[in-house]
Amino acid sequence: MDARVLLRRYLEQRRELGESELVLDALNVEDVMRLLGATGTSVRSIEPRLSVRELAGEQSDNWRTALHDAGVMVDAPTSGSKPVAPRTTAETSEPTTTAETKKEMATRKGIVVASKGIVVAPDEAELIPGAIEKLDSLEAIAKQVKKCTRCTLHATATNPVPGEGNPNAELVCVGEAPGAKEDETGRPFIGLAGQLLTKILAAIDLTREQVFICNVLKHRPPGNRNPLPQEVEACSPYLIRQLELIKPKVIVAFGTFAAQTLLNTKTPLGQLRGLVHQYHGIPLVVTYHPAALLRNPAWKRPTWEDVKLARRILDSSPRS
Ligand code: URA
Ligand code: URA
Repeated sequence: MDARVLLRRYLEQRRELGESELVLDALNVEDVMRLLGATGTSVRSIEPRLSVRELAGEQSDNWRTALHDAGVMVDAPTSGSKPVAPRTTAETSEPTTTAETKKEMATRKGIVVASKGIVVAPDEAELIPGAIEKLDSLEAIAKQVKKCTRCTLHATATNPVPGEGNPNAELVCVGEAPGAKEDETGRPFIGLAGQLLTKILAAIDLTREQVFICNVLKHRPPGNRNPLPQEVEACSPYLIRQLELIKPKVIVAFGTFAAQTLLNTKTPLGQLRGLVHQYHGIPLVVTYHPAALLRNPAWKRPTWEDVKLARRILDSSPRS
């Protein structure tokens, strides 16, 4: 289907639901609708939480092109090519040092800047230590994780928990870190939270076997304490390499920690939900951690909405 028609239909639908802004740029839905030749106006105007990146997938380049042709600034294509970094103040104002420029990029890397509609994609290659970057299978990564001493968690953990599932998964679930049960068995998300995760996946017609399930950290922090920044830094290359090898169509980050870590932001989960972000060029959606749902069942409905968004991204991607 023509990308413009598709986009217009989508926006019409969202407008009927009362949404009035895109996260991609300064334009709101009305502006884009005008550009796309739609008629009518919105009935209501409420706070937005809409991303046209929901259209990511099959039409991804087409809708980018359509929006671009219509004069809208969009973020770079999602896969293969290196994302285009938008101009930053560092480039537009006085020359600054490389360090400053890097710092500015780092603070924004991977973040959907809702007000400006920019995704600053980082040049991560240099962050991946050579050895991990060269691991050529999920098994090789698991083996490396098993003997990993890049941080101290290996010393207190019982088993590494590298992750498990379909090497060709279209959807990857990312949690925080292994808990007690996971540490005992070496398998991700198999405790109570894990059982709920299985049900969440079932709600969008997926089994654990179809997807890939892993965590930001591959070893359990003692007593389930929060992961330390240096542990995240040490362990992240494994997750990045796993994603490079699997090449999923969508990542679902479960919980504040996974979401904020992957998106390098302190933005509360509530504000990250409902948008399609990107992680290393892969669409990423954010939702509550199943353990949080066990404590607060009222979050089940929004979680359902979030995973349906992930499902829509899968369904709009070309068959592979
Ligand atoms: N989503 C996945 O992750 N894997 C499949 O095989 C199908 C859908
Ligand atoms: N919580 C997580 O974040 N990951 C697991 O694997 C288990 C519980």
